[in-house]
Amino acid sequence: MLRTHTCGELNETHIGQTVRLFGWVDTTRDHGGVTFLDLRDRYGKTQVVAGEGLRQWLGAHALKTEDCLCLEGRVQARPKGTENKRIATGAIEVVAEGVHDHSPCAATPFEITKSRETNEDLRMTYRYLDLRNPEVQKGLFARHRVYQIIRSSLDKHGFIEVETPILTKSTPEGARDYLVPSRVNPGEFYALPQSPQLFKQILMVSGFDRYFQIAKCFRDEDLRADRQPEFTQLDMEMSFLEEDDLFAVVEGVLKNILREVRGIELVTPFPRLTYQEAMAKYGSDKPDLRFGLPIEDVTPIVGGCEFKVFREAKAVLGLCIPGAQASRKDIDTLTEYAKEQGAGGLAYFKVEAAGLESPIAKFFKPEELERIKAVFKPSAGDLIVFAADELAKARKVMGAVRLYAARWKQLVPKDTFHFSWVMDFPLFQYDEEEKRWVSEHHPFTSPILEDWRKYRATGELGKIRSRAYDLVLNGNEVASGSIRIHNRELQKEIFTTIGLDEAEAASRFGFLLKAFEYGPPPHGGVALGIDRIVMLLLGLDSIREVIAFPKNQKAVCPMTSAPSPVNEKQLRDLHVRLR
Ligand code: AMO
Ligand code: AMP
Repeated sequence: MLRTHTCGELNETHIGQTVRLFGWVDTTRDHGGVTFLDLRDRYGKTQVVAGEGLRQWLGAHALKTEDCLCLEGRVQARPKGTENKRIATGAIEVVAEGVHDHSPCAATPFEITKSRETNEDLRMTYRYLDLRNPEVQKGLFARHRVYQIIRSSLDKHGFIEVETPILTKSTPEGARDYLVPSRVNPGEFYALPQSPQLFKQILMVSGFDRYFQIAKCFRDEDLRADRQPEFTQLDMEMSFLEEDDLFAVVEGVLKNILREVRGIELVTPFPRLTYQEAMAKYGSDKPDLRFGLPIEDVTPIVGGCEFKVFREAKAVLGLCIPGAQASRKDIDTLTEYAKEQGAGGLAYFKVEAAGLESPIAKFFKPEELERIKAVFKPSAGDLIVFAADELAKARKVMGAVRLYAARWKQLVPKDTFHFSWVMDFPLFQYDEEEKRWVSEHHPFTSPILEDWRKYRATGELGKIRSRAYDLVLNGNEVASGSIRIHNRELQKEIFTTIGLDEAEAASRFGFLLKAFEYGPPPHGGVALGIDRIVMLLLGLDSIREVIAFPKNQKAVCPMTSAPSPVNEKQLRDLHVRLR
């Protein structure tokens, strides 16, 4: 090895030894004629004092921060009182006499250890420098740890890791496909997988029973802080299972991850709530349950009141913000926010010792106000806010107001990881644009059979619940899955219901349907968004922080400038002409 030790390794036990270190120059300092420099690598930092040899070298060379340097010297104890207890090497320093390698660094576009404060596109253009920042490196180290824990936990549970193709056929996750033209098959295209969904189900038909894969997925969709065009799932599928079996496996893996990466002991089983409960109480199918603030339905109470907006609305939902001490301006800002979320307005009652106070209080009879109080049981200083609208819209508004209020009043506890399962999602949702019913999850999701029998007959398709579930962490959807259909007849009926005729079903998923003719086992699975989980574990607010080479908001990789034009010959080889 070119080095004897790393920059994070030396301590009192090495005093007196001659060592050879490699690292990047983190800082240089001059203290009354004594030159110090800190050498940094992925393991830590070591303080170096320039001995005679290094002083001479420094006189003849220009050394800058971020140069890569090899130094040889003797380890000595730091003078009493100058030790640094916060770092592993804080008790020692190396008196360097010789430089053995000097690889200079060009002027950097930003200060490495402050790269997070830089414009993100610049960071990503120079991602190799950004990734030199120990704070940024933490994301990738945590991710690596998560992968190791996943593999060892699932291996112990009898799961087999199988890779599925990247050049494949379109998979049904509802986003646009990335297409790859085939040179040897003119005019034909592969699709990059939106997920390994069909393959993992086929592996169940083959009898593998317990499959997992750390799978790259590709989706051409609008990007956000928690969405990338290529991202990574922990993809799993099991046969002969019920929800409980799968949840226990996933909870076990997450327990190990939280323990090892954050030192936190999760309580299992995770709480479960139905989609209906989540929507009614929290106005979201991914409720943040680190705090309470439940939404209350006061429609029946205000149905006969004098306030026209309430009386005529399909639904009136309210939320009590404890200790709001809201000023006029606070209420205006909150109302403005609610309107951005689609609210017509935001009615409110300030809770005073004397009673409920509001410009609209005059429209309510004393007994109506008493009933409102009985619902929220407020204390003086609270603020009760209401949205009156169609039920779905009022829920959406209140769900957003709930999150706003929690941030505003700092009701979100730090370093808390609240996982919950949301179950019984609707099987279908009505697509207003296409004027037809579509699968809420994907068309292989099993309905709850009694619902299917009951509501299919009455045509109330929106009421059919499915055996699909999501895992929610602190208000983020971090996993999604379902128990699948393994009955051909039922599968056909589902396709018919969503207007997928036999020819189209055959052309899109024919190979799965064919496989299902050969004794498919009952099965189900789930996929966890690894990028999101690692981001949340580290308290970061973008998955780009935990992806080595992410794309920006325009789906561009600023470092490689992909995507980029290709030359005419390449296009011709692929039988592609640009429109
Ligand atoms: P789904 O499409 O819900 O399910 O994806 C599963 C999980 O993957 C994460 N995720 C994403 N993360 C980053 N960027 C994206 N663009 C992105 N899209 C999704 C989310 C999500 O919960 N085949 C099914 C799973 C199954 O039924 O077994 C599937 O892919 O955390
Ligand atoms: P207005 O009658 O428009 O002056 O509104 C009186 C109060 O009712 C104001 O506080 C409005 O913000 C509120 N308000 C108006 N429309 C709605 C609505 N759809 N839901 C809840 N509050 C509303």
